[in-house]
Amino acid sequence: MARERPVVLVTRRLPEAVEERLRCDYRPILNEDDRQLGPEELVARAQQADAILTTAGEPWTAEMIARLPERLRIIATYSVGYEHIDLAACRARGITVTNTPDVLTEATADVTLLCLLGAARRAFAAQRDLREGKWQRWSPTGYLGLELKGRTLGIVGMGRIGRAVARRARAFGLTIVYHNRSRLAPELEEGARYYETLDAMLPHCHFLSLHCPGNRENEGLIDARRIQLLPRGAVIVNTARGNLLDEQAVRAALASGQLFAVGLDVFRNEPQVDPAWFGLDAAYLLPHIGSATVETRNAMGFRCLDNLDAFFAGRPVPDPLT
Ligand code: DGY
Repeated sequence: MARERPVVLVTRRLPEAVEERLRCDYRPILNEDDRQLGPEELVARAQQADAILTTAGEPWTAEMIARLPERLRIIATYSVGYEHIDLAACRARGITVTNTPDVLTEATADVTLLCLLGAARRAFAAQRDLREGKWQRWSPTGYLGLELKGRTLGIVGMGRIGRAVARRARAFGLTIVYHNRSRLAPELEEGARYYETLDAMLPHCHFLSLHCPGNRENEGLIDARRIQLLPRGAVIVNTARGNLLDEQAVRAALASGQLFAVGLDVFRNEPQVDPAWFGLDAAYLLPHIGSATVETRNAMGFRCLDNLDAFFAGRPVPDPLT
């Protein structure tokens, strides 16, 4: 007798091709109007599910995990980051957790360069003035930014995304230095210089780009003290997680000139972005679009489904976190 298709709670709308495959192989509980669901509603909807397909926006705390039904055995997150899921609580309950590494590397590296260039070239103020009809004439002193060539980019976290950023940045003439938990093999370093400590690297970084996980250990990694270690007039780019930056310290450093500009795709408390950012010409801001290409968002969904397929077929999941 054919096995009943497992029930999957899908917390957000997913690209059509992904939902189509879901409907073929599973009995999905879809979020038709794509509302952001709160903890109570998530737990309530999960009561009839064998699996959860969640996204980076939804926290799964130990308290929530404890209230999941016995039948629920796997959570697949539609993200590479997994700081929103209490892995220890899942492990204790025997719940498998998977993520989507690899598939968003190139898209996120592209947006990192967009943020880097947008910040370095003051693209926000220039574009705003143009659109508001405030651009009077070409001026030798207007919208002066920083050239990339000949400067140094410091990368914090030289994993897949960090290395993809380094490859692109080299093409712009930047020298690459990096800090990582451990030094990479020479073929992965591709000439980048390793610093064992972040503090030792910062004084060399005209540009600094963050690519480490947003876990508790890295909370407020770039704070007022570390910003002071950068050369005056540096640029910080963050396409990883908002909690890596002390946002107030960053704004203070923009005001004092210690920082020339910032390029941010991620914020604390998304989507409630601190409005203090909005008036700052030197802040190039994007609404967490690092992985937002058709190809990547499809691939993220398919990767979640590959994990669910393997799990329910009794095979090892490709991207286990627990
Ligand atoms: C992730 O996958 O962690 C991203 O932040 C979502 O784009």
